Formats: sequence, structure tokens, C-alpha cells
Amino acid sequence: MHNLIATLAVASAALQGVSAQLPARTNICYVSQPSDGSDAVPNILHAFDACGTNGKIYFLDSLYNISTVMDTYLSNVEVNIEGTLLWSTNIDYWVKNSLPVGYLNQSTAWIFGGDNVLLQGYNKGTFNGSGQVWYESIVAYYDNYPGRPHQITFGNLTNSVVGGMRFVQSQMWTMSIINSSNLLLESIYVNNTNSIPGAQHPQNTDGADTLFSNNITFNGWTVDNGDDSISCKANSTNILIQNCTFYHGNGIAMGSIGQCDNQINVFANVTARDIVFNGAAQAVYIKTWAGIPSGNPPYPPNSGGGGLGYIKNLTFTNFTVNDIGQGKFAALSIQQCYQANQSIPNICDSSKMQISDVSWSNIQGTMNNSYVAALQCSGAVPCPGISIENVDLTVVDTGKLATGYLCSNVSNPIGFTCTGVPRTH
Ligand SMILES: *[C@@H]1O[C@H](CO)[C@@H](O)[C@H](O)[C@H]1NC(C)=O
Ligand SMILES: *[C@@H]1O[C@H](CO)[C@@H](O)[C@H](O)[C@H]1NC(C)=O
Ligand SMILES: *[C@@H]1O[C@H](CO)[C@@H](O)[C@H](O)[C@H]1NC(C)=O
Ligand SMILES: *[C@@H]1O[C@H](CO)[C@@H](O)[C@H](O)[C@H]1NC(C)=O
Ligand SMILES: *[C@@H]1O[C@H](CO)[C@@H](O)[C@H](O)[C@H]1NC(C)=O
Ligand SMILES: *[C@@H]1O[C@H](CO)[C@@H](O)[C@H](O)[C@H]1NC(C)=O
Ligand SMILES: *[C@@H]1O[C@H](CO)[C@@H](O)[C@H](O)[C@H]1NC(C)=O
Ligand SMILES: *[C@@H]1O[C@H](CO)[C@@H](O)[C@H](O)[C@H]1NC(C)=O
Ligand SMILES: *[C@@H]1O[C@H](CO)[C@@H](O)[C@H](O)[C@H]1NC(C)=O
Ligand SMILES: *[C@@H]1O[C@H](CO)[C@@H](O)[C@H](O)[C@H]1NC(C)=O
Ligand SMILES: *[C@@H]1O[C@H](CO)[C@@H](O)[C@H](O)[C@H]1NC(C)=O
Ligand SMILES: *[C@@H]1O[C@H](CO)[C@@H](O)[C@H](O)[C@H]1NC(C)=O
Repeated sequence: MHNLIATLAVASAALQGVSAQLPARTNICYVSQPSDGSDAVPNILHAFDACGTNGKIYFLDSLYNISTVMDTYLSNVEVNIEGTLLWSTNIDYWVKNSLPVGYLNQSTAWIFGGDNVLLQGYNKGTFNGSGQVWYESIVAYYDNYPGRPHQITFGNLTNSVVGGMRFVQSQMWTMSIINSSNLLLESIYVNNTNSIPGAQHPQNTDGADTLFSNNITFNGWTVDNGDDSISCKANSTNILIQNCTFYHGNGIAMGSIGQCDNQINVFANVTARDIVFNGAAQAVYIKTWAGIPSGNPPYPPNSGGGGLGYIKNLTFTNFTVNDIGQGKFAALSIQQCYQANQSIPNICDSSKMQISDVSWSNIQGTMNNSYVAALQCSGAVPCPGISIENVDLTVVDTGKLATGYLCSNVSNPIGFTCTGVPRTH
């Protein structure tokens, strides 16, 4: 905790160093929960308004009921949270009122924007999305049920730090990071677990998703969920993910991108290092939609394809995987016909989004099948510069090394030899 505070202080000082003349944060506000148990949002909005410039806002070590949406913007403010914000279980309200985020038809419970913001939770401050009601009622529609909100959206948040926060039972994605830049998100705990004993980890409860954002660092995250641990989506550039432990879920997802016909999405300069995966489906999954839109109907939110753009310069190193490769998944994968209707001839070779310069190294641990990698690149734009080096993965059942490298359209593989082709061909 002292380390965290020290780190945050340094990070915050570094950020403030960027604009050295920031005024002192002299406007102080405390947020209280109404004693009759009603919605705390009016009090929160009042504090964010009164102290939203050059201020410090304190949530006490108690419970706050959140029953309505918020759209806030802070300028040079510190937000301190020691208690719990608990979102209401009124699904009808959220479905009708959650705020659009400007991506597919997705929406959120809170758009949190600002510049020079320090949001800190001392490893104690908790957002509880009351996700259990969503997991039990939306389970049949887990694909992007309209109006099912992200717990929070860091939208138009710049030069800021989020540290020491806990996010539990989020309604859908835990957080989306949209139109944002120069962020450090450090020492974050995410746990989206269905409380019914033996139930699957809930789908669509990603730990974090970046969109239209640049220069975002994730350091020291723990994520336990049933979907992407951390996912970088359309126009994510200069992203660093390090020093994290992921449980269950789908590991690090690069994409999907290319879901919208003819729209350009790019994706470049991502590094993930020093990560431990426990019981995850895979470690890294790079995915684009096909070049031909398909599905019924063949467009978002649940189907699509036809996007343009590229993915390049991804570096993944020092991964320890324990019991990974649940089901059919290889530890490392590329798929360029994500959710495509594969009865359309050659659809897996239709994507025009080229994937290049992907390096995987120092991958060790145990897995449940023998496929280190399944790399399905589009025939229209084969993948150059793919390297996989220094892999030491033991298959749990046999005790032998995993040796499978399935490839299609990988140009001049570096450090490995292809042993077959992936299923989608
Ligand atoms: C939050 O709302 C619930 C349901 O209305 C109520 O039972 C509870 O007491 C409220 N909590 C607080 C801290 O006021
Ligand atoms: C979230 O809040 C609900 C309702 O109060 C509670 O039952 C649940 O245990 C909380 N979840 C966690 C992980 O604290
Ligand atoms: C992001 O920017 C786009 C276009 O500028 C806008 O439509 C969208 O609402 C923004 N979303 C957020 C969460 O800031
Ligand atoms: C971000 O917020 C600033 C300050 O309110 C505003 O000037 C700018 O237009 C916003 N940008 C976007 C993309 O919403
Ligand atoms: C990237 O963001 C960090 C804060 O996380 C900041 O210190 C750094 O200066 C930014 N880099 C660039 C090139 O803007
Ligand atoms: C997540 O929460 C579940 C249920 O409370 C708990 O069993 C599990 O250990 C937690 N995971 C982590 C990584 O803390
Ligand atoms: C890794 O993250 C933990 C918090 O989860 C933090 O205490 C530690 O300082 C981080 N290590 C590095 C090298 O940043
Ligand atoms: C995404 O990036 C590409 C390439 O820079 C650009 O053409 C496109 O307009 C961006 N999309 C959005 C929505 O910002
Ligand atoms: C990727 O990083 C290189 C080297 O720092 C930089 O020149 C390039 O602009 C970056 N690409 C993007 C899309 O930010
Ligand atoms: C690739 O991205 C890394 C950051 O992830 C950056 O340091 C490096 O300069 C980039 N390389 C190129 C050739 O853009
Ligand atoms: C590799 O990652 C592990 C786990 O995060 C970390 O403890 C170790 O220091 C890293 N090794 C190197 C050489 O960075
Ligand atoms: C969003 O939903 C509306 C109906 O609710 C639909 O008409 C529209 O096509 C959808 N747009 C996208 C991009 O999914």
C-alpha cells in the first residue's frame, strides 16, 4: 500500500510535470450517501460540479447507492474513494437510460472524463456493479444485449492516473477506455464472478477495453472473469500491459477489429510482458473480422466484417501460463475470420487487414492441449514478421512438450516451423 501510494505520487508528479503550472487543488468536497438510502448520484454530481476544477473529492469509507447514470468531466482533480459504490439492480432503468459510448451500439453507466485526474482507491475503494442480476437475467443474450452498460467508461480522459481501485461484478465490460490518452491504470483488481456455485464465469465481462485511445499503461492488474482479461480494440496505439495476473477468461485479446464494413481501424505498438495466466482459454488472441460481411444481419452489434486497416508491431514476452488452453484453444492465436459464416467460400482469406511484426518470446508453463499456436492469416494479406521464440510449454496430460504450430498464410515464420493448418481451413 505504501509502495502504491509512493508510485502513484511519483506517477502523479510526473504527469503534473508535463504541465508544471497546474494550480493547487484547493477546492475540497466530501460526498455523502443520503441517510434515507436513496440515490447518491445527486450528491456526487454536486461534488463533481463544486470541486471539479482544481479540487479534491473524497468518498468516505461507507456504502453509496448508485441508481442513475453519470456523465462527468474533471480538470486537475484528485478523487479519493475508500468506500463502495453499489449500482442498483433496476435492469429496466439501465437498459433504457445507459449512455451511448459511440462504439457499436454499446452504452455505459458512467462516462468519466477529465484532464489531470488522479482517481485512487487505496486498494479498498470498490465499484460493485451488482452484476449478479445481469448474469442471471441476460445470460441467454450475452452478446451485447442492447443497453447493458459498461460499469464505467473513461471517455476523453487525458494525462491521468487510476490506481488501487477494485471493480467487482460489473454489469458488462468492467471499463471501456475511449477517446483517451496518456493514462496509467495501476494496481487494479477486477473480479466478475457469478455467485451461483459452479456457474460459468460470466461472458462479456471484459476487464478493460481500449478504443480510439493512445498511450495507455496497465500495470499490476488482477483480473478474474469469463471473457477478455484486457482487450485492445479499434484504434488502440502505444499500449503497455505489464505485471498482471489473469484468472479464467480469454487472456489478452487484440481485437476484434474490422467489424464495420469499410471503416478503417488500426492497431499498433502494443507490448504485454511479465504476465501470469491461470486457467485461461488462451494467452493472446489476435482477431479480425473477415473481409466479407456475414451473419444475420451481417452488421454490428452481433455480426459484421469488411473493415479495413492493419495490426502491426505487437510484442509479447515473459508469460507464465498455468493450465491454459482450456478446450480447443492454442496458447497463441491469430484469427482473421472471427465469427464469420464459414459456408461462404474463402471467407477466411478475405480480410484486407494485414497483421505484421508480432513477436512472442519466453512463454513457459502448462497447457491442456499440444498447440502452442494457431495462426490463421488472411490469404489476401499474408502475415510477415511473425516470431515465436523460447517456448517451454508442458502438456498436462502427457507431460510432453507442446509442439503444435498450426499456420495458414504466415510468411517466413521466425523461430518456429509450421506443423499443420488451423481448423478454419
Ligand atoms: C441502498 O439502497 C438499498 C435499497 O434501496 C437500501 O436497502 C440500503 O439501505 C441503501 N444503502 C445505504 C447505505 O443507504
Ligand atoms: C456486490 O454487492 C452485492 C449486493 O450488495 C453483494 O451481494 C455482493 O456480495 C457484492 N459483491 C462483491 C464481490 O462484493
Ligand atoms: C468518442 O468520440 C466520438 C467521435 O468524436 C464520439 O462520437 C463518442 O461519443 C466519443 N465517446 C466517448 C465515450 O467519449
Ligand atoms: C474533451 O473534453 C474537452 C474539455 O471539455 C473538450 O474541449 C473536448 O472537445 C473533448 N473532446 C472530445 C473528443 O470529446
Ligand atoms: C504517456 O503517458 C504517460 C503517463 O502514463 C506520460 O508520462 C508520458 O509522457 C506519455 N508519453 C507521451 C509520448 O506522451
Ligand atoms: C473472485 O471472487 C470469487 C468469489 O468471491 C473468489 O472465489 C475468487 O477467489 C476471486 N478471485 C480472485 C483472483 O481474487
Ligand atoms: C506490480 O503490481 C503490483 C500491484 O499489483 C505492485 O505492487 C508492484 O509494484 C508492481 N511491480 C512493478 C515492477 O511495477
Ligand atoms: C482510426 O484510425 C484511422 C487511421 O489513423 C483513421 O483513418 C480513422 O478515422 C480512425 N477512426 C476513428 C473513429 O477515429
Ligand atoms: C509506433 O512507435 C513508433 C516508435 O516509437 C512511432 O514512430 C510510431 O508513430 C508509433 N505508431 C503509432 C501508430 O503510434
Ligand atoms: C513497437 O512498439 C514498441 C512499444 O510497444 C515501441 O517501443 C517500438 O519503438 C515500436 N517499433 C516500431 C518499429 O514502431
Ligand atoms: C517475468 O514475469 C514474472 C511474473 O510477472 C516476474 O516476476 C519476473 O520478474 C519477470 N522476469 C523478467 C526477467 O522480467
Ligand atoms: C443500433 O441499434 C439500432 C436499434 O436499436 C439499430 O437500428 C442500429 O442499426 C444499430 N446500429 C449499430 C451500429 O449496431
